[in-house]
Amino acid sequence: MASKKIIIDCDPGQDDAIMLLLALASPDEFDILGITTVAGNVPLHLTERNTRIMCEIAGRPDVPIYAGHDRPMRRKLITAENVHGKTGIDGIDIYQPTIRLQPQHAVDFMVECLMGAQDDSVTLVPTGPLTNIAATIIKEPAILPRIREIVLMGGAMREGGNTTPCAEFNIYVDPDAAQIVMHCGRPLTIAPLDVTHQALVSRARLQQFRELDSPVGDAVVGLLEFFNRFDSEKYDSAGAPLHDPCTIAYLLSPGLFKGKRCNVEVETQSELTMGHTAVDFWQVTDRPCNARWLYEVDADGFFDLLIQRLCRYG
Ligand code: RIB
Ligand code: CA
Repeated sequence: MASKKIIIDCDPGQDDAIMLLLALASPDEFDILGITTVAGNVPLHLTERNTRIMCEIAGRPDVPIYAGHDRPMRRKLITAENVHGKTGIDGIDIYQPTIRLQPQHAVDFMVECLMGAQDDSVTLVPTGPLTNIAATIIKEPAILPRIREIVLMGGAMREGGNTTPCAEFNIYVDPDAAQIVMHCGRPLTIAPLDVTHQALVSRARLQQFRELDSPVGDAVVGLLEFFNRFDSEKYDSAGAPLHDPCTIAYLLSPGLFKGKRCNVEVETQSELTMGHTAVDFWQVTDRPCNARWLYEVDADGFFDLLIQRLCRYG
């Protein structure tokens, strides 16, 4: 299978960090054109540094890393140190990475990269607030035909919100950007809390990561032990949901997931429901289907894939 050209846009965060390790361990499937970073879980100067750390841990200094927007399009930035810790990737040793940040702004990189690409050739994988993606579309709409698909982590319907009663973090932080992406006209696949809350890091699964017995495996265990402490308490669940790796796992093995084409709209006006993803799952309106909404995952298959790829780091 020819490798997919992808651009990852992220806000590490422990789950973004593990998503990066999964993608970087799959060079046969992914030609990662670049990784762009956005303010989200923690401020931009940390999400870009964390991305550089993770690429260093993965032994992938070849992948260019760019910094993008440090705040949402209109609203005030909210961050999630309460979930991810002050560094954003609490649970591993933090250091100044040798991998350098590219000087070009992430949006300018994406415009230049996509304008030089064939139609339907580049997949975007955003796992943070959608500010950079929306800004790229606004700056140069001619990039749109070049986008093969956007596979994003965000939103919630059956699961309810994790940031307000009705909004998931990535969409809530920048609902205006999210609505622009929902209406970009390109193929959209959405991995919402409805599916990521099935991918829980149980004690047994954490033990499997421990048995990797490698520097990368140890880093993953450290990240997950920290990440687990918050969500298990909050949801009284069997472990933290591995949100962002669901995007890359979907691209690697779509058969692990069930999804349905739906209309998805984002609330951008009401403070009560700001950032809510209104999903017409049963098509009770005549609003056009604009996304594939993932609602089920084979969790054991997902973790088997993740472990199998992380084993590659030796
Ligand atoms: O709501 C979960 C999402 O918000 C994940 O992408 C997590 O990393 C945070 O960005
Ligand atoms: Ca994220």
